[in-house]
Amino acid sequence: MEDRSALKQLIDRDEFNFNDFIGEKTEGLVFDKRTLDNIYTLFKQFNIKYVDYPISSGKESLVFKVEGAKKGIVMKIFKTSTLRFQHINDYIDGDPRFANQRKSRGTLIYVWARKEYANLLECRKFRVRVPEPLAVVNNIILMSYIGERRTPAKKLKDIEESQLQGYFNSAMIEYGKMVEKAKLIHADMSEYNVLCYRKRSYIIDMGQAVSYKHPKAKEFFTRDMVNMKSFAKRNELTLDEIVLPKFPGDTNE
Ligand SMILES: Nc1ncnc2c1ncn2[C@@H]1O[C@H](COP(=O)(O)OP(=O)(O)OP(=O)(O)O)[C@@H](O)[C@H]1O
Ligand SMILES: [Mg+2]
Repeated sequence: MEDRSALKQLIDRDEFNFNDFIGEKTEGLVFDKRTLDNIYTLFKQFNIKYVDYPISSGKESLVFKVEGAKKGIVMKIFKTSTLRFQHINDYIDGDPRFANQRKSRGTLIYVWARKEYANLLECRKFRVRVPEPLAVVNNIILMSYIGERRTPAKKLKDIEESQLQGYFNSAMIEYGKMVEKAKLIHADMSEYNVLCYRKRSYIIDMGQAVSYKHPKAKEFFTRDMVNMKSFAKRNELTLDEIVLPKFPGDTNE
């Protein structure tokens, strides 16, 4: 049970000022027993020594850096308490890959986690630059960590002007591969879901990404492109050097 107490220590430790990471809608960091058991299982399986530090606490997930045997690993825990059932279902129903999964209120979050994992795997298969997925157990995903030891990679939105065009181009190239080769539409593509590290952009946060066969795939694609183009415009970036991605099957757009 050592791992649990290590987690508890992290949470109790003031030096991380954990409260800064707790969103307004979160009462505090409480894991139910099942989540703790899953964390414990994964820690054993991946020989994880300790939780290094929390990276982010959003409405829907908690993200930690944990220390594996050789390299940094990210543990993303989907919260069960703030689950927006209908919202999530919109991105699962209609995706042929997940058509036959049983989706009760209790297990929908597991489908969501598996979907993010499957999307990451699919992207890797087509060499889209995304974190490497390592494991998924119920509502927890392990994936490779992107960043320096003490500081996670910056998001595209936080990149300084002189490096922005390069990282933006890189993000659009990866997005293009995702759409045209992996045939997945991210559906939440923006400057918030791109990590920038050593001149390369990585696309993250794929729970909502859908197959291009999803009935709303085209709509999601258009929205992604509007987000990215408007980011470019706001920052006076040019789209000249990039071949803009096309929706699978479309020739002239
Ligand atoms: N593999 C990774 N390596 C380093 N940092 C990561 C990684 N994955 C996620 N992060 C960090 O954690 C944050 C939240 O992750 P993600 O976007 O996947 O979750 P989310 O639930 O959508 O959170 P949010 O609502 O804040 O977008 C990211 O913005 C990023 O800063
Ligand atoms: Mg995100």
